[in-house]
Amino acid sequence: MVADAASRGKFGSNVGFILAAAGSAIGLGNIWGFPYMAAQSGGGAFVLLYLIAVGLIGVPVLLAELSIGRATQCSPVGAFARLAPRSAWPLVGALGVATGFAILAFYSVVAGWTVGYLFKALTFQFESGMTHEQSQAIFQGLSGSAGQSILWTAVFMVLTILVVRGGIQGGIERASKILMPVFFLLMLALVIRAVTLSNASGGIRYLFHFDLSAITPTIVLNALAQALFSLSLGMGAMITYGSYLSHEENLVGAGITVALADTSIALMAGLMIFPAIFHAGAQPAGDEGLVFVVLPTIFDKLPAGNLFAIAFYALLLIAALTSSISLLEVVVSYFVDERQWSREKSTWLLGIACFLLAVPCAASDAFMGIVIQIFYIYALAIGALLICVFTGWRWGTASAVGELRRGGGLPGLGGWAVLIRWVCPVVAALIVGTRIWGLVSSMLG
Ligand code: TRP
Repeated sequence: MVADAASRGKFGSNVGFILAAAGSAIGLGNIWGFPYMAAQSGGGAFVLLYLIAVGLIGVPVLLAELSIGRATQCSPVGAFARLAPRSAWPLVGALGVATGFAILAFYSVVAGWTVGYLFKALTFQFESGMTHEQSQAIFQGLSGSAGQSILWTAVFMVLTILVVRGGIQGGIERASKILMPVFFLLMLALVIRAVTLSNASGGIRYLFHFDLSAITPTIVLNALAQALFSLSLGMGAMITYGSYLSHEENLVGAGITVALADTSIALMAGLMIFPAIFHAGAQPAGDEGLVFVVLPTIFDKLPAGNLFAIAFYALLLIAALTSSISLLEVVVSYFVDERQWSREKSTWLLGIACFLLAVPCAASDAFMGIVIQIFYIYALAIGALLICVFTGWRWGTASAVGELRRGGGLPGLGGWAVLIRWVCPVVAALIVGTRIWGLVSSMLG
């Protein structure tokens, strides 16, 4: 039994859909993750590989997910069931629902730190002349204190629930239409401020200095994993959003717009963070502490630094919220479509259940590390692999291209079919294989 279209909801316009899907893609992955991973991998080499990964794997898988969703007008489990009746394929949708639930749990913890930091910035708690050690202690005080961390995670989860309970048009689309323009303006202002600081050129060079000799297999794997995560792929989030779109809209154009927006924002995040770091004479840190430990030590070295801090953490919070709603929506849509729960009940119950998984993540770095490992590293790559195999070999590229052509399409879909049948599954299988090989060999010592 599948809920009918009227009770499922629909995006009101193509612009609303693009803003919502871009909002899902643009998130902590772009602003918190991308810059520190780039720093970890020596800057430019990672950036170059990331751009290749987006074009080769990201855009093709994005179009596959969107076409599955729009063709069926169903959330992931129902979508696979409709296109491959009486098969095991709906399990791929179920894996997606579980993955969305788990990713939302650790995502809310990091988003919770962001709420905490926004609060600190708004109440002028960043002292001037703070040393790296002092900043580290502040971050520890927040992330290392289970109580504070859980409190801010709860605040963030409630925000997410409040948007998703409003439904597609009245909740997700409406929030995206307000938040995304604010986000773009803040981002633009921060980038302009950062690149006009003295010594900004050092930061820009750092980001775009493509040192090919720095490339290692690990960097390639990291770039691929990051491309999937950043575009919200591998678990059916884009299947779900696509299912709320009508057949009149140009799906290929919308998908490419979303990918371009997401990639530009990742690069802009680098253009905002590295020039500020070089201006302050600090070092880019290649770990999660980049935006929570390094940045607070340089805000006061910038003109109007506290304003910069407020704008930055507000930006990060908006990015996180428009992404977390897409994660919760995947889980909620399953219960609304396939189990006939009301949206109100699904949103609260599942949001609270997810918070219960977030609590141990907030309390224990080790636990959070395991959840990230399983779901960010393995589940998304396995999900992406299965989605490619499904689209290329089971549903078939002819049907998928037919769907992509409805409402316009763009030239080059023949090339897309080749990528989704051959290139993407092979690369995704290599990611999964290499990761499992690494895991097994490390266990064998
Ligand atoms: N893309 C988001 C980010 O970059 C995170 C995200 C939202 C996500 N929905 C997703 C990741 C679905 C994977 C799958 O922060």
